[in-house]
Amino acid sequence: MNEERSSKKVGKAVLDAIKSGAPNVDLDLLPNLMDMSPASITENVHAINSLCKDKRQKFLFEQLVTHLHDFAREVGLTTEEWMTAIQFLTSTGKICSDIRQEFILLSDVLGLSALVDSMNHPVTASATEGTVLGPFFTEDAKELKAGDSIASEGKGEYMWCEGRIVDINGNPVPHCKIETWETDDEGKYDTQYEERTEADCRGRLISDEQGYYSYRAILPTPYPIPNDGPVGALLKSLNRHVFRPAHLHMMFYREGYETLITALYFKGDPYLKSDAVFGVKTSLIVDPVLVKDESKAKALGFKNGPFWHLKKDYVLLTTAQAEEQKQKSLANYYASLQ
Ligand SMILES: [Fe+2]
Repeated sequence: MNEERSSKKVGKAVLDAIKSGAPNVDLDLLPNLMDMSPASITENVHAINSLCKDKRQKFLFEQLVTHLHDFAREVGLTTEEWMTAIQFLTSTGKICSDIRQEFILLSDVLGLSALVDSMNHPVTASATEGTVLGPFFTEDAKELKAGDSIASEGKGEYMWCEGRIVDINGNPVPHCKIETWETDDEGKYDTQYEERTEADCRGRLISDEQGYYSYRAILPTPYPIPNDGPVGALLKSLNRHVFRPAHLHMMFYREGYETLITALYFKGDPYLKSDAVFGVKTSLIVDPVLVKDESKAKALGFKNGPFWHLKKDYVLLTTAQAEEQKQKSLANYYASLQ
């Protein structure tokens, strides 16, 4: 037996990697992972991942590997199909930028965003339902005062949005931060215009002492999700349409309360029942009223009439109420599995 070959000698590359932070585990404690077969490979991956010190991460990866491997076995995944998937994920990553999030879009069209959102924000009888964030939120919305417009002139039919933000007992939630964003009447977000220099059709506001908010907006229109990239090509191959019903995105933050990410949809929209990203919930469908009174329009700051009047109150859960709800919902789910 060659003594040198049997020693635990390692090269400089290994020592350098350990020096720069790569975990240095005791190799003698590891199970033998050699000679893997389709039957043993899953257990071997679990064995080596079991070194993970974070309990939750360990659990997540155990489940992820189990389901991924089962998927590959069950469908008889071919090398060509797996390479197609790798190339798809690579192109999905390559097209991402600060203002284009193709991975969120992928999660959306797979229904995963809607699923994660609904598990983390179970429906309660009294609080406003959440829905998907979508890929078009940006951090650069202008801060506005009550009554200001989130949209520049000429972006669409005027809409006056107002209402109150309250807790489940009807008490006001004052100083609540509101983010709102929408498409213009061409069905485009500002980020989809190459010449974009600043935020448009999006704004940040704060509710007053009574939880009241108001702002001017425009009536959004249905739009295709970005379909010039890998996710668009995927939907085409699945023979799926790429449209979302018109909606107004809303997000609410207030310390002590569960952040609410939601959107309002509009009655009569042709895509309500087949939203490409599964975001529509009946409780979020609104029916604004057309106001033709010119003087009212001008008093609210519009150039002229008419305008749509959208009155909507939002009900927030406290952080503790949301957590309690989530635990109850999870317990019910696990009970249903037994
Ligand atoms: Fe959207």
